Amino acid sequence: MAKLVVSFELNGVPTDVLTEPNRSLLEVLRDTLENTGTKEGCGTGDCGACTVLLDSRPVTACLVLAPEVQGRKITTVEGLARGAKLHPVQKAFVEQGGLQCGICTPGMIMSAVALLERNPTPNEQEIRYAIAGNLCRCTGYDKIVRAIEVAAYSAAAQNGAASPNGQVAQTAKTEASKTEVS
Ligand code: FES
Ligand code: FES
Repeated sequence: MAKLVVSFELNGVPTDVLTEPNRSLLEVLRDTLENTGTKEGCGTGDCGACTVLLDSRPVTACLVLAPEVQGRKITTVEGLARGAKLHPVQKAFVEQGGLQCGICTPGMIMSAVALLERNPTPNEQEIRYAIAGNLCRCTGYDKIVRAIEVAAYSAAAQNGAASPNGQVAQTAKTEASKTEVS
């Protein structure tokens, strides 16, 4: 099969890849570009492990063909931290015990980042809806949800924004302030 060059922005860096047109974005990221932070779980669009941001929207990279990202912006989990400084969502996952295995966590974090970019102060229902496509059968989702709440309300508190979500938000804000003090 004839190869083609696909040009896109990966984590802010202009990137050109020579690839067969039937390869997935996930294959290109992991196998060609060696960005292995994005994981493969099912390979069929069901588990969310391969979630990346395509022009700021979460997509399952196993279902995106490489040519589809021509001229677009891709953000992977490798693109979140700034040097040694974790992205606020990563930091909250670490501090709130939201980290699970290395397969599901990157996708969970990318879905959370996408949520907070479009809705900086989500309520619990909105958080659970946003990560509904990120599957883990090993444990509950409570610590993940709490981590996303803390990330959201840490940012909201820093910006002086009022919390619209009552007790859940208050709990998260309390946790956030504990984290900031410690
Ligand atoms: S590996 Fe892409 S959704 Fe499961
Ligand atoms: S799939 Fe990662 S902890 Fe369950």
